[in-house]
Amino acid sequence: MKVILASNKAAGDQAAFNVFQQVIENGAKVLGLATGSTPEGLYKLLRESDLDFSAMTSVNLDEYVGIAPDNPQSYHYFMQKHLFDAKPFAHSYLPNGLADDPDAEVKRYDQVVADHPVDLQLLGIGRDGHIGFNEPGSPFDGGTHRVKLTQSTIEANSRFFASEDDVPKEAYTMGIGTILKSKEILLMAYGDKKAAAVQKMIEGPVTTDVAASALKKAANVVVILDPAAAAKLQPSSITERI
Ligand code: F6R
Repeated sequence: MKVILASNKAAGDQAAFNVFQQVIENGAKVLGLATGSTPEGLYKLLRESDLDFSAMTSVNLDEYVGIAPDNPQSYHYFMQKHLFDAKPFAHSYLPNGLADDPDAEVKRYDQVVADHPVDLQLLGIGRDGHIGFNEPGSPFDGGTHRVKLTQSTIEANSRFFASEDDVPKEAYTMGIGTILKSKEILLMAYGDKKAAAVQKMIEGPVTTDVAASALKKAANVVVILDPAAAAKLQPSSITERI
């Protein structure tokens, strides 16, 4: 795990952009994407760049259950607004939050990922250490599944909704097993609310109590942090400062 401490968020976004640019130059065909506030700066850099995704495929980590793609709170909508409107991919896949048959939807999405092996998977991290919506206790070999969100995640995500009651209580998410199959993984974390989860992921034991600790089992992982997210780390845990 390579841990990059950026002097600020802008430097972190630029470092993440450089990772994307490099894998695309190296011939990547499939990008695994994330939503949330963390990648917004990176997506802005991608939107304003001359990178061309029109021959590539994107596969997103997750989507809320019960929300239509044109609902502004949906992850479909988020991706459209922050990236796809400006930079269309040949094919973009997300779980279908409105699927009638959850078992069929889980199988369909696992097949999507099997058919499009991810070259670079972008991740954020939850305050409880989740990646995708793999909450504490999720098995490390799991595939796509429907999950009940924890109270911590519902509270954290309520900032995007009118009230906490409006936050969907369930989501579809790629499993940790799915995520670990990506050839490369880039996890970004900003702000003091992530510091404890980041410390556990990097310096704690590999345990299903902290979903992100599974990343220590993957070969090519880059973590980009700002000083607030890195505040609880030992200096020796930092690989590079930029
Ligand atoms: C989003 C996702 C989540 C977020 C995490 C952090 O697609 O899978 O794991 O990455 O909840 O969210 P932010 O970036 O809003 O702090």
